[in-house]
Amino acid sequence: MSKKLVLYFSVYSTAKAVAEEIARQTGADIMEIEPVTPYDSDRAHYNDLAKLAKKEHDEDQHPAIKNAIPVGNYDTFFIGYPMWWYTFPMILYTLFDRYDFSGKTIIPFNTHMGSGDGGTYRTIRKLEPNATVLEGLPVEMTAAERGVADQVSSWLKKLNLD
Ligand SMILES: Cc1cc2nc3c(=O)[nH]c(=O)nc-3n(C[C@H](O)[C@H](O)[C@H](O)COP(=O)(O)O)c2cc1C
Repeated sequence: MSKKLVLYFSVYSTAKAVAEEIARQTGADIMEIEPVTPYDSDRAHYNDLAKLAKKEHDEDQHPAIKNAIPVGNYDTFFIGYPMWWYTFPMILYTLFDRYDFSGKTIIPFNTHMGSGDGGTYRTIRKLEPNATVLEGLPVEMTAAERGVADQVSSWLKKLNLD
């Protein structure tokens, strides 16, 4: 059986909820991508987060990651994040800059409010051309909050992992 890690970035905890469900159903290890400078997770301050995320995007900032990701210890990575401004949060670029996933399997998933995966699974294929990127799972935010056990289990069945 391949060694699997669920790696996620989440501010409002919906991608985290999907990540936890994937880890529960697969028995994979789980790890959060932690920014050096934490984001404000209070939803009442959404406008400030939106402005900050837009600035990071427009200035092509790649925010630093605090923790070390043990990429060498795993074969398969579920990588999850929310949609921010029609793409993934810029810290995902930091992840793909800093770590080489060549020869690994990446299975993306994301939360969103209507954009689906917004082409981000394609972006991952471009950034990690020597990884095998399998079919991802986009989850609408409110669905993620209601519980995603069924959605995750039918997706995992289709992926047919070892
Ligand atoms: C800064 C920001 C930008 C967002 N941009 C989009 C977007 O372009 N498309 C979309 O469908 N949802 C967008 N959303 C909604 C998030 O993808 C959604 O709330 C997601 O569930 C948050 O994930 P999290 O709980 O793991 O942080 C945005 C949310 C934030 C905070």
